[in-house]
Amino acid sequence: MDTIECIRTRMSIRKFKPEPVSEEMLLKVIETAQCSPSYKNSQPWEVAIVSGEKKDALSKILIDLLERGVKPAPDLPEPGVWPAELDKRIRDLLKRRSEKFGIDLSNPDLIKKAKTANFRFYGAPHAVFLFQDSSLSPWSILDMGMFAQSLMLTAHAMGLGTVPQAFLTDYSKEVKSFLQVDDSKRLILGISIGYPDLEDKANSFKSTRIDTKEILRWVK
Ligand SMILES: Cc1cc2nc3c(=O)[nH]c(=O)nc-3n(C[C@H](O)[C@H](O)[C@H](O)COP(=O)(O)O)c2cc1C
Repeated sequence: MDTIECIRTRMSIRKFKPEPVSEEMLLKVIETAQCSPSYKNSQPWEVAIVSGEKKDALSKILIDLLERGVKPAPDLPEPGVWPAELDKRIRDLLKRRSEKFGIDLSNPDLIKKAKTANFRFYGAPHAVFLFQDSSLSPWSILDMGMFAQSLMLTAHAMGLGTVPQAFLTDYSKEVKSFLQVDDSKRLILGISIGYPDLEDKANSFKSTRIDTKEILRWVK
């Protein structure tokens, strides 16, 4: 697959096959993501990959925190009020997903269910957590986005599936403590990774994009 096809066909995977991915393949994904550009080539990314029993134990911790109603405390603040046009895109996504799966995704009980599925890593055999030093500026967060996209595209090109998950940063302190990552680091993103179960209905949903005309200004 060429680069353009890779970018166009990548999608968030929300059901994985249980088979683990070899360490060699996971290493290749991370090594390739390291080729991403970064501010002054500072390469501010740090990565933890959790698998097997450890992943299951972390899943239990996150679900327990959710069940006990512990308030999320991500290192990066949750988005507040969205500008109207972006809010509309979010609502459209929820509406399309609700229609597709025959459920009302704006129902608060279902939000808890959705978080639980996130905390189970959608059945993925591995979860990747991305960190960086908390003292870094927003420019370095931009670098993390580049790294994350390179990681997901490389995985896709290798026949793997991924999903970026802000929810996996809800309990950043606990995640860092479990992964033995210093609390001076900020947890940026969690990404579940594994072989995609493309037969499952969860992966039959394809998100859309707004018309390019809405975001592009030609100045001639
Ligand atoms: C920063 C970020 C955070 C996200 N957090 C979540 C999440 O917590 N759970 C989830 O299922 N999807 C999450 N997503 C996936 C988005 O919903 C998804 O990328 C978007 O709907 C577009 O769909 P696509 O990835 O299939 O193209 C996140 C995506 C990004 C970039």
